[in-house]
Amino acid sequence: MQEQWWHGKVAYQIYPKSFKDSNNDGIGDIQGIISKLDYLKSLDIDLLWISPIYVSPFKDQGYDIADYQNIDPIFGSMTDFEELLTKAKALDIGIIMDLVINHCSNEHIWFKRALADLNSQEASYFYFKQGKDGKEPDNLRSYFGGSVWEKVPNQDNLYYLHYFTKEQPDLNWFNEDLRNKLFEMMNWWLDKGIAGFRVDAIMNIYKDLTFSGLSPDDIDGRANASSMTKLHADKVGTFLHEMNTKTLNKYNAFSIGEAFDVRPSDLDKFIGDNGYFSSIFDLSFREILEKCNGYYQMPSLGIKGFKDCIFTTQQRVNDIGFVAPIIENHDEPRGVSYWLPYQWQNEQGAKALGTVNVLLRGIPFIYQGQELGMTNTRFNSIYEFDDVNAKSEYQKCIDANIGEQEALDILNKQSRDQARVPMPWDDSLFGGFSKHIPWIKVHHDYQNLNVKKQEANLNSTLNYYRRLIKLRKSKKFIDIYKYGKFEAINIDNDNVIAYSIAYQNKAIYVIANFDAKDLVYEANLKLELSSNSQNCIQDKTIYIKAGSAVVLTNI
Ligand code: GLC
Ligand code: CA
Repeated sequence: MQEQWWHGKVAYQIYPKSFKDSNNDGIGDIQGIISKLDYLKSLDIDLLWISPIYVSPFKDQGYDIADYQNIDPIFGSMTDFEELLTKAKALDIGIIMDLVINHCSNEHIWFKRALADLNSQEASYFYFKQGKDGKEPDNLRSYFGGSVWEKVPNQDNLYYLHYFTKEQPDLNWFNEDLRNKLFEMMNWWLDKGIAGFRVDAIMNIYKDLTFSGLSPDDIDGRANASSMTKLHADKVGTFLHEMNTKTLNKYNAFSIGEAFDVRPSDLDKFIGDNGYFSSIFDLSFREILEKCNGYYQMPSLGIKGFKDCIFTTQQRVNDIGFVAPIIENHDEPRGVSYWLPYQWQNEQGAKALGTVNVLLRGIPFIYQGQELGMTNTRFNSIYEFDDVNAKSEYQKCIDANIGEQEALDILNKQSRDQARVPMPWDDSLFGGFSKHIPWIKVHHDYQNLNVKKQEANLNSTLNYYRRLIKLRKSKKFIDIYKYGKFEAINIDNDNVIAYSIAYQNKAIYVIANFDAKDLVYEANLKLELSSNSQNCIQDKTIYIKAGSAVVLTNI
């Protein structure tokens, strides 16, 4: 593999509405991020992905962009953004913007012009189709429920396509003029000096232009739009290649794709030396879950499911490139609550899971609050949820005759809002996130679980994460992370995750024990780091407490 500037780096994701509110209107903002740059530096992260901060009506929390080249006033101004960029750069932190180009907002000028004149240039940037037999053009189901087609107002039988909410019309990537507009926009941001992009929902940009739908997969007669995307997952390449040539490559930018269902045989094209992306997220667990039509049908994968997913992915990409390991993001509930046995949904479990995540091969992405070991909170009624998807999933439960209480439990377990509650900075009202009541509820445990408290405790999850990242980037191990290969360590226990990363004769070993019982492992290795001070090595026997992890090495 060719060496790249971003090899060996660690990234962090900010959900800007919930990170830090500087002007006390209850919504996080850019000045809030600036005020916490030193905190981010103290974690030693290199890349900062910020979820969308562009002008938006926020139907899908900023993933519906009305103006790609301006900052939404709730977050601040372009001057604020430039200040962030400069200050981050001074700390050697690269800014990664979220690039949402499968769709835009229905309030984008392109879509407004398209609706105003269906013969306009802008109308060709979208998919307008005639209905069939008094129904939508095809039977695909949107990611957020209902048809992917919405009727065009004041037209008899005309629809536009939207894979997500009806306020997120899909952009027609088959239109060259549209593509060039998007590439120009990307170059404009890259010219400002950002380090790259996180590329949203990118597999969806290819469409089968026959719009013939799929066989129904549920009683509503529809089929998931994601199944269509999966069917054509090998065809986005031409667009992505062009995007690289016309934008990313020219800047040697870092790009990280939200790319679902990439075929194993295509991984080289995606993340190989000349791949479409620098890296893609390991979302293999989500691919399994998305086969179900609703939260209520999704299986509990548990720690074994998590292990199987990450191991399969790691083995697949070992000789090809880097994936980005995650335990959670703004679309997922908290990893500690979602993946771990109940008994380890706490500080101990968080540290052990963090060890697995941060020390995997690839570019780990830490999601805000993960470094505190944040767990899910409790939403007590459907009205406490904000996410458009939570509302549609709730409705799916009700339609499936699931009682209100159970529906709420399901949402509490699966909802994207779990990751979107404010970052708890201290134990003051609203966790020091804001002085104003926040746009979404605060985590129930913010008085105990917050940055200030963890700063003061050397053994906190936060300080443990700092040690993990430092270790990963240390002189001793950095070569392993740039050039090494992943290997699973076979320990016959579903609740144990163990692997090594090795380069030449140097190796790092991670053993995380999520079982209810302590673990004993025989090997001639040295103890580098442990999430529990009671773990130890005597002769060649390594003792690993239940709910803890060790990092070992032969160096
Ligand atoms: C991606 C985003 C998600 C958003 C969707 C539509 O999956 O991560 O938050 O709802 O795309 O843009
Ligand atoms: Ca604010």
